[in-house]
Amino acid sequence: MNLIIFGPPGAGKGTQSNNIINNFDLKQVSTGDLLRSEIKIQTDLGKKIESIINNGELVSDNIVNTLIRKIISDPKSFNRVIFDGYPRTISQVYSLEKLLKEFNQKISIVFSLNLDKDIVSKRINGRTICTRCSRIFNVYFNPPNSKNHKCEKKYLEKRTDDNFKTILNRYETYVVKTKPILDYYNSKKILFEIDGNQKIDEIYDKIKGILENIRDWHYASFLYKFLEKI
Ligand code: AP5
Ligand code: MG
Repeated sequence: MNLIIFGPPGAGKGTQSNNIINNFDLKQVSTGDLLRSEIKIQTDLGKKIESIINNGELVSDNIVNTLIRKIISDPKSFNRVIFDGYPRTISQVYSLEKLLKEFNQKISIVFSLNLDKDIVSKRINGRTICTRCSRIFNVYFNPPNSKNHKCEKKYLEKRTDDNFKTILNRYETYVVKTKPILDYYNSKKILFEIDGNQKIDEIYDKIKGILENIRDWHYASFLYKFLEKI
């Protein structure tokens, strides 16, 4: 099954995607991470998009759609992708639909994590990410310690777009350009809205329960079709 994890900056898309891939055979694809790695190794694309990301604007649809095409066309990702932070515009929604159809796949579920605006800043300001193991922490809500993190402290870094001015722009961009696409998934009846203000584990328990139900259902319908043939 492919799924989308949706929400404003700091909603917990990356955190919950990490939790999901530890328990389900799924692959996380964060367009933000893909774009940041282009910047890190200073490819031509990376140089072109650095200021866009640091201003909290969206990178062009063409660029992200091309990155996503590479993922969907890869047989190793067949029907097992968590789209984290994609799609973010209605044009990206249509491009994703077209691509999935071309490669005989679909989106089974969209999780939307809703978060109060006043919490966004604190989540983003407190975030640190381990560049070695990719785990996401928060100095206020989920600090790294000897139990949850084995790498050395020197690997913990802040993102360059995690500053006060950019956060405001990122949030505004989300409200104006991205949030409206929820109507599309609501009309398809695959949208699950989750209160993202809850604790990390509480949110994950809800997501896990829903995914287990879908997995069981897929398994039951596969078994049914198989038994019909024998
Ligand atoms: P992206 O990297 O996707 O950033 P974002 O959407 O702003 O989301 P974040 O990664 O900041 O938040 P998150 O929801 O993943 O939260 P996290 O789990 O880390 O995109 C960056 C930029 O790339 C965009 O601005 C744009 O320029 C570009 N881009 C990306 N995709 C694009 C696209 N499709 N089209 C065009 N441009 C694109 O958690 C945040 C913090 O909160 C952490 O510290 C975590 O520990 C903590 N936390 C998480 N959950 C909880 C909880 N329940 N309680 C307490 N703390 C929590
Ligand atoms: Mg993220």
